[in-house]
Amino acid sequence: MTEVLLDVRNLSRRFDVSKPWLNRKLEGLPKTYVNAVDDVSFTVNRGETFALVGESGSGKSTIARLIVGLLRPTAGEIFFDGQSLSRGLEGAQARRLRRRFQMIFQDPLASLNPRWHVTDIIAEPLRVFERGMGERDRRLRVGELLTLVGLSPEDGVKFPHQFSGGQRQRIAIARALAARPDFIVCDEPTSALDVSVQAQILNLMKDLQREFGLTYVFISHNLQVVRHMADQIGVLYLGRLAEVNAAPVLFDRPRHPYTRMLLDAVPDIDMTGRQRKRVEGEIPSPLNPPPGCTFHPRCPLADARCRVEVPRLITGVACHAVEEGRAPWAPMPVPA
Ligand SMILES: Nc1ncnc2c1ncn2[C@@H]1O[C@H](COP(=O)(O)OP(=O)(O)O)[C@@H](O)[C@H]1O
Ligand code: SF4
Ligand SMILES: [Mg+2]
Repeated sequence: MTEVLLDVRNLSRRFDVSKPWLNRKLEGLPKTYVNAVDDVSFTVNRGETFALVGESGSGKSTIARLIVGLLRPTAGEIFFDGQSLSRGLEGAQARRLRRRFQMIFQDPLASLNPRWHVTDIIAEPLRVFERGMGERDRRLRVGELLTLVGLSPEDGVKFPHQFSGGQRQRIAIARALAARPDFIVCDEPTSALDVSVQAQILNLMKDLQREFGLTYVFISHNLQVVRHMADQIGVLYLGRLAEVNAAPVLFDRPRHPYTRMLLDAVPDIDMTGRQRKRVEGEIPSPLNPPPGCTFHPRCPLADARCRVEVPRLITGVACHAVEEGRAPWAPMPVPA
């Protein structure tokens, strides 16, 4: 039976990116904001992978940081295992919840302390969450974790810079697993790696998911990377979800024009005969997004309504043309 572990409801986050006060006064400028995440809702089932895909600046990392509590939402709420994360948790309850989730970042070199031995890096969550654990048990556990991610217990005495990019990401994964979490947010964990190394890390993450029943939110700018990794995929465009669906359905029958554009742009490795096209147009500045559907300047189906009215996510797709039944590839939606 599927069970919702993470429930993200109407999540928004804006950033104040105004010039300093004096500049604004002298130049007569108003405050400026970026709506990095705008009314995003999705759910993640226990033991599954939910992939968030979008171009650079679409709000992926902001959502990741909101989920793990590194940022506070401007609006909306996040529930984890039925508990609201947005209502400042405290004390023992917060600690119990905190140890259940972890985050893995794109650049392991930046997220691993360069002056620490690998053993101390991996042991850090144990010092925080397993306060009763003795030094000897901690060393043993670190050795176990290193083996689990395909490294050797002897690697513990080295420093991060003595490893390759792929090995460093294995160290980051070992650290993430140390306190036995059940939920991991992975923010472009393989984007900095060569393609062959990428595949090894993805396979490792899949194996660990099966072994420990982990739930992932997996972030990538590349749809193909998440194809075999994700159960559900959410496509982000300028801070909003354009489309959400089960991975095979999204690939076989993409409905949002932007999803179709992304899929048309990738090399056709499965030889489906689909024409390869380049992604047309530039992603607009998040500082000054187009009104209505923010995708309208790039969309072949845009009409007058699209230029003024924001499409809502209905049955997994936020598009007026699909809703109106005038997208040639999408059948008329079944009335609810
Ligand atoms: N701390 C911040 N202050 C101001 N703007 C930010 C901050 N973090 C992110 N942004 C802006 O929010 C938008 C989304 O950024 P981000 O979540 O990093 O996107 P992605 O990870 O998809 O590339 C971008 O326009 C970015 O410039
Ligand atoms: S709402 Fe309009 S502009 Fe936006 S994707 Fe759909 S058809 Fe294109
Ligand atoms: Mg990012």
